[in-house]
Amino acid sequence: MQPDAPLLFFDSGIGGLSILGPTRALMPSAPIVYAADNAAFPYGTRSEGEIAARVPALLGRLVERVRPRLVTIACNTASTIALDHVRAALDVPVVGTVPAIKPAAELSATRVIGVLGTRATVRQPYVDDLAARFAGDCTVLRHGSADLVELAEARLRGEQVDPAAAVAAAQPLFDQPDGDKLDTVVLACTHFPLLADWLAHAHPQVRFIDGGQGIARRIAYLTKGQSWPDDAPPGRALFTAGIPPGMNTALAPFGITDLGSL
Ligand code: DGL
Repeated sequence: MQPDAPLLFFDSGIGGLSILGPTRALMPSAPIVYAADNAAFPYGTRSEGEIAARVPALLGRLVERVRPRLVTIACNTASTIALDHVRAALDVPVVGTVPAIKPAAELSATRVIGVLGTRATVRQPYVDDLAARFAGDCTVLRHGSADLVELAEARLRGEQVDPAAAVAAAQPLFDQPDGDKLDTVVLACTHFPLLADWLAHAHPQVRFIDGGQGIARRIAYLTKGQSWPDDAPPGRALFTAGIPPGMNTALAPFGITDLGSL
């Protein structure tokens, strides 16, 4: 393995930073390429067919271009729909991001857990399967929100965003029957940890969890013993529809200073 072979992170937008952040904390010298398919953002309002066709093709192009040692699909929507297709199409290890239902079920005392994701993610059979396998004795409430994705993206770009708008967008989860018994909510979209402080403030009785730390540990495990540069080179970001405004500010804290187009 070449020391400069990067870890590739992929999302529709900049939600994947909630996975990249914990990974960098664990692996500070890892070279990073972050790819955002902003041409098709948001994924959560697209059809299964579109995602299943688009994501493997795009990742194929990216892998040819950046030659990563490992690919992380830092997006629940793309992972729950297209992870198998991507793994079949690529000959590098692929880590997916899927809703953290298992840890949520392990933590819940009330046995009522929530899954807050995109509209596409919450209707996936993949989620039904996780709920049946790991939360069979729990009531699993779901809510899909496109507004939360937009709000997270805007907040990270440095725009003025009203915390009350995020709280209102999540409220239908809590308004369902048994919603008052929720004690653990899975943030099943990588954009949502970027709003977790506001949601937690509005719902102090609820634990909001996401897969970021676990995925970072998985990446470290899968690349253990490989050679790395002594110092991380500047991280790169690639966008499918040009560099959106505010990106330099959003990405610099993650060590990404080289921005370009795919
Ligand atoms: N960040 C993505 C996810 O985890 C997708 C958001 C979107 O593009 O709708 O699902």
